[in-house]
Amino acid sequence: MLRPMIFPSGFVTSRLRLRPIAAGDAEAIFAAYARDAEVTRYLTWRPHASLHETEAFVAASIDGPAHRTYVLTDPDGGSAFGAFDLRAPAAGHLSFGYVLARAHWGQGLMTEALTPVVRWALARPGIWRIGAVADIDNIASARVMQKAGLVREGILRRWLVHPSLSAAPRDCVSYAAVRD
Ligand SMILES: CC(C)(COP(=O)(O)OP(=O)(O)OC[C@H]1O[C@@H](n2cnc3c(N)ncnc32)[C@H](O)[C@@H]1OP(=O)(O)O)[C@@H](O)C(=O)NCCC(=O)NCCS
Repeated sequence: MLRPMIFPSGFVTSRLRLRPIAAGDAEAIFAAYARDAEVTRYLTWRPHASLHETEAFVAASIDGPAHRTYVLTDPDGGSAFGAFDLRAPAAGHLSFGYVLARAHWGQGLMTEALTPVVRWALARPGIWRIGAVADIDNIASARVMQKAGLVREGILRRWLVHPSLSAAPRDCVSYAAVRD
């Protein structure tokens, strides 16, 4: 059984606010990225065909004992254009996943979101590691982790199914930052 974990109520950077996802975010998420096959190419889920699917997805994303999903908005609030999922899969260890609407790619935004999360994690007593994996071909995600200070650890063979690409699990690259 995983230990309950206290996640921050949010993060704020110069261009972003991360706040916990809520049922009311479904419409913006569907419109901004959940139906975009380009966005979901390297994800574990397929593009949503309807708002109803996004509503169910958001409902399932709301806080559990071992994870919190944040949405990304402008610093002053407004509609969600991305999401950041922070997870505690084991004692002392955090992992994460993220997604951003295509209109916002290439501006350094996810690096800006990840960087304070990593800083928070490694300053928190009892957290020794924060890391994630990306599909072997997901160069942008690998670059985000590298820019946020995570170190490439190696390749996990046949690690995750990314259904837009293959029904078989694909090789993934693992990145992490650890406390010395
Ligand atoms: C991955 C993702 C979150 C990146 O967000 P972002 O805000 O655009 O990322 P950043 O702008 O901070 O950095 C992206 C980096 O990747 C680089 N990059 C992007 N596509 C690339 C490509 N095909 N080849 C080489 N570099 C690439 C960019 O040049 C940039 O690096 P730089 O700053 O050195 O130029 C975004 O592309 C996304 O949402 N993708 C779909 C969902 C996804 O794959 N999530 C991750 C699952 S592990």
